[in-house]
Amino acid sequence: MPPRASAGGSTGSRSVPGVKHLIAIASGKGGVGKSTTATNLALALTAEGARVGMLDADLYGPSQPRMLGITGSPETRDGKMEPLEGHGIQTMSIGFMMADDTPVIWRGPMVTRALQQLVYETRWDNLDYLIIDLPPGTGDIHLTMAQKIPVSGAVIVTTPQDIALLDARKGIAMFEKVGIPVLGIIENMSTHVCSECGHEEHIFGHGGAVEMARQFGTRLLGELPLDIRIREGADSGKPVLVSEPDSALSSAYRSIAQGFARHLPEPRSPKLPRVPEVVVD
Ligand SMILES: Nc1ncnc2c1ncn2[C@@H]1O[C@H](COP(=O)(O)OP(=O)(O)OP(=O)(O)O)[C@@H](O)[C@H]1O
Ligand SMILES: [Mg+2]
Repeated sequence: MPPRASAGGSTGSRSVPGVKHLIAIASGKGGVGKSTTATNLALALTAEGARVGMLDADLYGPSQPRMLGITGSPETRDGKMEPLEGHGIQTMSIGFMMADDTPVIWRGPMVTRALQQLVYETRWDNLDYLIIDLPPGTGDIHLTMAQKIPVSGAVIVTTPQDIALLDARKGIAMFEKVGIPVLGIIENMSTHVCSECGHEEHIFGHGGAVEMARQFGTRLLGELPLDIRIREGADSGKPVLVSEPDSALSSAYRSIAQGFARHLPEPRSPKLPRVPEVVVD
């Protein structure tokens, strides 16, 4: 029999010391720009005067050490890990503890445990926002986050082509099922402006995200162009918010950050959320 969801399951999530709001950045499909967007949104919130942290929840393919230009490994004091800082963002990633070319080959329970350790055993210092950069899909890491961690809301990143939108729909449906509010959708790589001639092209199509937002009763937080400066900044550890804070690109990220910060619900109470339990019979 295929697994089915029962309404009976529930597990505990306790509040995360030192953190007011946890915000998940998710997509269905891989490679649509979640990590890059997460980094720039974290920096956009910092530019607004907030205290911001980054939890790299992609245990299989951590990106944040490189994107925030951080090297080194965290020190442990009094049983807690000290986050490392990049451009003012308190950051924790499994990438700080493993060599770049070492694969993580873990089963579900180990992933669950490791994610909880990264969240609860890091000494976050008085954060307004902890941004959670999720891996693609709807797997163990997402389920752990939904069941064990008090996430305030999720921001969905998608590219405009049909296949990415299809997967993004699954992502939204998953958050709805586990009771995490979807704060809105970002259409990434929405347009490409040729750096030579200025010609504008919708390489991956256009407008799918706004239609999806309408269908799901959520909002389009913004559209981000496909721009070489975004890619170069992500690869070099100097995101565009740092290298060109006054550019139109940076202001697009700032407006998106303001958009979802405005719609945040009060921090979720640490009482037990109800989540579906998978039963095989
Ligand atoms: N708006 C953009 N313009 C140009 N390049 C971009 C943009 N957004 C992301 N990229 C580039 O696309 C690639 C994939 O981005 P990223 O790693 O952020 O995706 P992801 O969704 O986190 O991937 P994964 O699913 O593997 O975690 C990177 O090389 C990044 O620099
Ligand atoms: Mg990523």
